Amino acid sequence: MKKPISVGVVGCGYWGPNLIRNFRSLADCRLKSICDVSEDRLRHLQTLYPEVETETKYDKLLGDPNLDVIVVATSVKHHFPMAKAALLAGKHTFIEKPMASSLEQCEELVSLAKKQGLILMVGHTFLYSPAVRKIKELVDKGDVGEIRYISARRLNLGLFQKDINVAWDLAPHDISIILYIMGETPLRINCVGAAHVTPGIEDVTAMHLHFSAEKTATIQSSWLDPKKVREMTIVGSKRMIVYDDIVAQEKIKIFDVRVDRPPHYDTFAEFHYAYHYGDTYSPYIKQDEPLKTECQHFLDCIRTGKTPITSGQKGLEVVRILEASSASLKLNGAPIDLPPVGRDGRASSTSTPPMKSSKSTPPMSSGRTK
Ligand SMILES: NC(=O)c1ccc[n+]([C@@H]2O[C@H](COP(=O)([O-])OP(=O)(O)OC[C@H]3O[C@@H](n4cnc5c(N)ncnc54)[C@H](O)[C@@H]3O)[C@@H](O)[C@H]2O)c1
Repeated sequence: MKKPISVGVVGCGYWGPNLIRNFRSLADCRLKSICDVSEDRLRHLQTLYPEVETETKYDKLLGDPNLDVIVVATSVKHHFPMAKAALLAGKHTFIEKPMASSLEQCEELVSLAKKQGLILMVGHTFLYSPAVRKIKELVDKGDVGEIRYISARRLNLGLFQKDINVAWDLAPHDISIILYIMGETPLRINCVGAAHVTPGIEDVTAMHLHFSAEKTATIQSSWLDPKKVREMTIVGSKRMIVYDDIVAQEKIKIFDVRVDRPPHYDTFAEFHYAYHYGDTYSPYIKQDEPLKTECQHFLDCIRTGKTPITSGQKGLEVVRILEASSASLKLNGAPIDLPPVGRDGRASSTSTPPMKSSKSTPPMSSGRTK
């Protein structure tokens, strides 16, 4: 029989309990300890899981020789120091999204995990969602044709964060899905937004990602919308897909519609766009909890030594885009060029992306209030 992998989770606020529940449910895993500075949170979780050890001091988890894994589910500013300490203590490390507060921090964590021979994984949960995997399968099979653009909307009222703007909070989900579907990283980013509620912290942003061959993606993120929306549209040259993550059934609808421009014509009167209207259908999707699949994948990677689908490197690529979006916000939406990702998967050896402004607007010191 396999020895269970022993897991400790730090951060038992809103999201941590979901990780705790899922790791605890897995057969080859022992949820050994949970840690939070809040004794109230620990007391509450101990009523649910009395067998689990509780700690208010993170150092206790780091120093526990019987702990194989640390899962970091605290707010973003703690991700880097906690994950670095976990890797230095010889623990396989799972970090919630976004991986860290800067590209430089992500690079340090990726190289530290490699040096230590440990698995580093980031919680980009949607890549474990059956709906997203179905979309990827359809795109890879060529059913959608060439992707022309993707547009994503992730809107709701709150939860307002104090240390990151709405793009860093909500867009990591959309960025990770878009990179996965596109199968490439963008060449250029620009982002506009406004801080209506907390000065300097944008609560509404619109990010544009420019890929090769005129492919684009737009991500609208908001904490200031009356309606909860989690929607993505993938427009291809053959078909279009609408993915609605809010609905329980038929999350994906495939529209067999397209428009073609005739290759040549002799007179203006002969020129007509060719509209194709076919069926709309919704494929069957098995309902598995993405977070459970994600937790199991992490344990499998520890056992096999395989690189996780949402590896530290993939988390780094998302943070690289977020960092460029912040730079663009300060430049009133000016485009920021991104260096190409090398064949070894490294984004850049520099700590900050090179900035290129198409305007002569001076950088703004913080987000704008309105
Ligand atoms: N993958 C997803 O779908 C998803 C969804 C929501 C949140 N998240 C991510 O999960 C992370 C946590 O978000 P949240 O909404 O649960 O935040 P939260 O503020 O509700 O919880 C964070 C917890 O960490 C604790 N904490 C802070 N400093 C600590 C320390 N030094 N030692 C021990 N505990 C400490 C806090 O007391 C709090 O209970 C974030 O990175 C967020 O982006 C991921």
